[in-house]
Amino acid sequence: MALRGPHIPPRPPRPEHTEALFALMSDPEMAPFVYWNPHQNHHETYQYLEKLQAKEGFFVIEVEGQPAGVIGLHLDWDNKLGETETWLGRAYWGSGLNTKSKVVLFDFAFGPWDLRRIQAIAHVHNPRSQRALEKLGFKREGLLRRWRWIRGEPWDFYMYSLLPEEWMSSRPPIYY
Ligand SMILES: CC(C)(COP(=O)(O)OP(=O)(O)OC[C@H]1O[C@@H](n2cnc3c(N)ncnc32)[C@H](O)[C@@H]1OP(=O)(O)O)[C@@H](O)C(=O)NCCC(=O)NCCS
Repeated sequence: MALRGPHIPPRPPRPEHTEALFALMSDPEMAPFVYWNPHQNHHETYQYLEKLQAKEGFFVIEVEGQPAGVIGLHLDWDNKLGETETWLGRAYWGSGLNTKSKVVLFDFAFGPWDLRRIQAIAHVHNPRSQRALEKLGFKREGLLRRWRWIRGEPWDFYMYSLLPEEWMSSRPPIYY
């Protein structure tokens, strides 16, 4: 399935994305914010893309045909729930791309997919990620203690959620 918007066409992940995503995923400055270690070779990125292809709610974000990052929802259809996850190459931070991508994905999730809740977790030491969620109307629900094991250590995360009726008022005015 492909999601379409005028500013950012998110595409289903494809092997052809390997080279451009490797350039982003090998960036050592990304490491403190993501769960993977900087990729050392194209094969690691290819394997990452293979796993991504198996997930129906995940997309590569492209800017003028160039992969810029990944966005998705881990879908739990029984509970009409999606957990969102996004990363962008550093050059795109603060560019508005995160918001635009999420508008396309969430409109789809609360529209045709009829989800009743989108949730997100944010590392306690990642204020940028927390703020990016709060700007879109996500409410912080609580602290998940020792939620994820990252590089040999357990870390606390905040749990956030967004409901469809909240999205109606918090959605940024981006039209397509
Ligand atoms: C998380 C991510 C997708 C957000 O995209 P982004 O383009 O950086 O987000 P935005 O610019 O829309 O919003 C970030 C907000 O945090 C603010 N911010 C940045 N650094 C901050 C800090 N140290 N403390 C508090 N707020 C901060 C920005 O000013 C901005 O708020 P504003 O628009 O009100 O000024 C992107 O930063 C990213 O890919 N990070 C690495 C991966 C990651 O952390 N993913 C999330 C976990 S899954």
